[in-house]
Amino acid sequence: MTGLKDPSIRRSLALFRAFLHEQDDPEACYSLLARDAADQVEAYDGPLAGRTVVDVGGGSGHFTEEFRRRGAEAYLFEPDVRELGEKPPDGSVIADGYLLPLYDGVADVTFSSNVLEHVADPQTFLSELARVTRPGGLIYVSFTNWLSPWGGHEWAPWHYLGAERARARHRRRTGKDAKHTLGENLFAVHIGPTLRQVRARDDVTVVTARSRYWPFLTEAVVKVPGIRELATWNLLLILRRCPP
Ligand SMILES: C[S@@+](CC[C@H](N)C(=O)[O-])C[C@H]1O[C@@H](n2cnc3c(N)ncnc32)[C@H](O)[C@@H]1O
Repeated sequence: MTGLKDPSIRRSLALFRAFLHEQDDPEACYSLLARDAADQVEAYDGPLAGRTVVDVGGGSGHFTEEFRRRGAEAYLFEPDVRELGEKPPDGSVIADGYLLPLYDGVADVTFSSNVLEHVADPQTFLSELARVTRPGGLIYVSFTNWLSPWGGHEWAPWHYLGAERARARHRRRTGKDAKHTLGENLFAVHIGPTLRQVRARDDVTVVTARSRYWPFLTEAVVKVPGIRELATWNLLLILRRCPP
């Protein structure tokens, strides 16, 4: 537990401070983020203990570790072995989120943090999350939308001037190629079209669409077309799997 109320200014400030230290203290940053996300899952779905949790695109496994710490049977599915790092948690599997090596409906909770903007076909990715979630199970999906101040990732906020220009600037400033290239491993995902597509699906219902980190008006901000693309920062979708 973080002990921080969600939403609240204290929580948002704590997360923001942790993000500022992501490079020099990644452990503290990601452990706070993982506890915060686990708190959010429990707020919508009750205690994680005894649940089967599938973390898709989980990177080095901070979330999976936290779910396990809380007594869940948590498994990490990550296609990129470099992202897994040197000490992947127990229950790590190298697998693509488009084609998970899992039977239908095995997960009580399917979790995907900041992956949707890294896949070329978000709707197929969501279909696979829904497929492996049991009817009534919870699906946690968050992503940084393109017009968010962080939409350009390591080249933000210069993505507002265009991806190519922002990437070139990053190279000039750091002397290194940026990790992300638009259209290859980062995609311009927008909130409005994503919400319309998710609401039109018959395999899930939307429990909430809210800003993941924002301290107030977390659901209200997502209701305002245009503004939401700039002000949400990171969209959190809590979905529930419908019976087949
Ligand atoms: C920004 S990282 C997020 C890592 C972690 N979930 C987090 O929130 O810190 C994006 C992750 O998505 C993964 N990813 C990209 N394409 C994927 C796919 N098709 N299926 C599953 N994961 C994918 C990447 O390998 C990377 O680990």
